[in-house]
Amino acid sequence: MSCDGVMAARCLWRLRMGAPRLLSAHGKRISARYWSSGMTLDSINRAVVDRIIRVDHAGEYGANRIYAGQMAVLGRTSVGPTIQKMWDQEKDHLKKFNELMVAFRVRPTVLMPFWNVVGFVLGAGTALLGREGAMACTVAVEESIAHHYNNQIRTLMEEDPARHEELLQIIRKFRDEELEHHDIGLEHGAELAPAYTVLKSLIQAGCSVAIYLSERF
Ligand SMILES: [Fe+2]
Ligand SMILES: [Fe+2]
Repeated sequence: MSCDGVMAARCLWRLRMGAPRLLSAHGKRISARYWSSGMTLDSINRAVVDRIIRVDHAGEYGANRIYAGQMAVLGRTSVGPTIQKMWDQEKDHLKKFNELMVAFRVRPTVLMPFWNVVGFVLGAGTALLGREGAMACTVAVEESIAHHYNNQIRTLMEEDPARHEELLQIIRKFRDEELEHHDIGLEHGAELAPAYTVLKSLIQAGCSVAIYLSERF
């Protein structure tokens, strides 16, 4: 961890341990320097929000590529409209994070070209196992994303719920929609996929790696 990273972590720890919020006499937040690091409350907040928007943008992009892969294989089957409906919601999620990236001036992860290919191959590959394979992929990915969104909601609530209200509303709404996709996957026979437990574990391990990398690069 870089020197700045260590200082940021210490500052976050102090905030979480109840270090006083720095407010002016009129209740407005002021930007205050912590020790001699040059870090400010605003810059720490900024780093958290940057990381959240970058990784969520990457995740929604990856989800779009997965559904694109599934539709390429299963689009003309009876399950096609169900997959298309979930994909349409993922398009809205990605659109919102594209807007947030511009609004918050966050750069995308450098791994976007990689997620483009990996997402499509994962979607198409599991769809080649049949509709149950595609649905097993959906259950695995959506469960991971919902868990990831819950972690972010906790982080933002600990940081400053009022300040992050808009972002919290967006993430909560998307989390609920990812859980709906998860349930649709189960309703459509995900658990009947070949080697469901192994497949799900492998995909979720991949999701954890993707989240780790997209947050940092
Ligand atoms: Fe999504
Ligand atoms: Fe989803």
